[in-house]
Amino acid sequence: MEGLDLASLEQRVSGCRKCSLWEKRTQSVFARGTAAAQVVFVGEGPGFEEDQQGLPFVGEAGQLLDRMIAAMDLGSEDVYICNIVKCRPPGNRNPEEAEAAACLPYLERQIELVGPKVIVLLGAVPLRFLLGKSGITRSRGNWLDYKGIPVMPTYHPAYLLRVPQKKRDVWGDLQQVMRLLGKDPAHVVGR
Ligand code: URA
Ligand code: SF4
Repeated sequence: MEGLDLASLEQRVSGCRKCSLWEKRTQSVFARGTAAAQVVFVGEGPGFEEDQQGLPFVGEAGQLLDRMIAAMDLGSEDVYICNIVKCRPPGNRNPEEAEAAACLPYLERQIELVGPKVIVLLGAVPLRFLLGKSGITRSRGNWLDYKGIPVMPTYHPAYLLRVPQKKRDVWGDLQQVMRLLGKDPAHVVGR
């Protein structure tokens, strides 16, 4: 992937057949947001809506993610949103080890090119496959490191749709991210 810019990388992904997930995709799902982002959000992989539209986090969980981003006083010009795997796992199952490993070089290059100030991992899948760590319940809210970039693991928005009581925890995690970005959570209104 070295030497590829984001546009060439996206083109490479659109024709990728490095794992069997290509067989059932409608299209690959590369990213949305901006290459100048301060914050990279990493999810699991495309769901039904994402596979249809070719964009990450555009279904119900994505709408919640966008509300969380707005609550952080961030906009689409501040964030870059992508996933561990770029093609939809059939039936929305979690990506398998081999699929995640095949796809990881794309994500690594995306992060390298964007060069964010902070990475937010959404749930156990990116925690496991980007950092090799298990246990989102124990890890969330605690800073980790990816190649010198601070990483905040938190719960996945789809989990919050099922268990809304956990939104409080996630908001605490995202407030830590805001502080790292020099934003004062107390002065942001309209949450
Ligand atoms: N869930 C994810 O993890 N990623 C998406 O792009 C959509 C839903
Ligand atoms: Fe390639 Fe990743 Fe799609 Fe697998 S999921 S085919 S590695 S782009």
